[in-house]
Amino acid sequence: MKGIILAGGHGTRLHPLTMGVSKQMLPVYDKPMIYYPLSVLMLAGITEIQIIAAPHDVPGFRRLLGDGSALGLRFSYAEQDKPRGLADAFLVGAEHIGDDPVALVLGDNLFHGPGFGEILRASARNVDGCVLFGYPVSDPERYGVGEVDEAGRLVRLEEKPAVPRSDLAVTGLYFYDNDVVDIARGLAPSERGELEITDVNQVYLERGKAEFVQLGRGFVWLDTGTHDALTAAGQYVQILSHRQGVRIGCVEEIAWRMGYIDRDSCHRLGLALSGSPYGQYLMEITAGAHRPAPVG
Ligand code: DAU
Repeated sequence: MKGIILAGGHGTRLHPLTMGVSKQMLPVYDKPMIYYPLSVLMLAGITEIQIIAAPHDVPGFRRLLGDGSALGLRFSYAEQDKPRGLADAFLVGAEHIGDDPVALVLGDNLFHGPGFGEILRASARNVDGCVLFGYPVSDPERYGVGEVDEAGRLVRLEEKPAVPRSDLAVTGLYFYDNDVVDIARGLAPSERGELEITDVNQVYLERGKAEFVQLGRGFVWLDTGTHDALTAAGQYVQILSHRQGVRIGCVEEIAWRMGYIDRDSCHRLGLALSGSPYGQYLMEITAGAHRPAPVG
């Protein structure tokens, strides 16, 4: 399975923060935002990942992440010259996807919860259709919204409905079989002029091939689209880091625990960052000073 991180857009709602830097480069406590969605794909077992960004932002992402080899991964980069909508990722990324299934994650979504790695790996196995993730929120009108029947099956999808029929937001993480490329090619822009991911998902729903995994109580899904949400996300990561001593979204640690790199390589990555607590953490865990933590 291939992976795509969509990290374009204008970041208008975060101006002036995003006037000189891409939104997905902004700090969420101790690391750039894009580390969090990257860690999601890594936990799903995906190693070939394309980062799609605005042309002027691609060099920055390349500088930050390189070709992925330091993490045992393969990164490629593609430009989205205009924010044409989330489903445009499958047109820009068509060559990268090739004949494979694909996972798309939005570069500004942060997930954390018990057993998430296992949920991801199960969802990535043998995708036939699409797998979407629902999360209850108090403001569903801001998102794609899924309605389910008594058995929990998805029956309806709506993009930012004025009057939502449920409180289940569709999160910015999607698994698709290879049909997604053709489906995206057949889309027309919506009223707001975008190729909507909800229209893609609607096609799968009509084919009876849209699985809806509900992320329940105890799970955290944060978006980082406003100044308050960005600050809250940073505080969440900070609290976990101070209180439990765990770092979420630490891509070097995940690369080691997933077996993409060995302990020594992870230690060396820590050494290179040893001027920061982030680097020191990597050095500590690879020296065996911490108890081993399970992946995801
Ligand atoms: O976060 C989950 C939500 O994401 C879903 O519930 C909605 O169904 C989905 O449409 C999307 O809604 P948003 O209104 O949050 O999408 P937004 O336009 O803010 O784009 C999400 C991220 O993707 C944002 O960081 C910018 C980036 N983006 C967006 C567009 C339209 C791109 O990289 N390229 C684009 O063309």
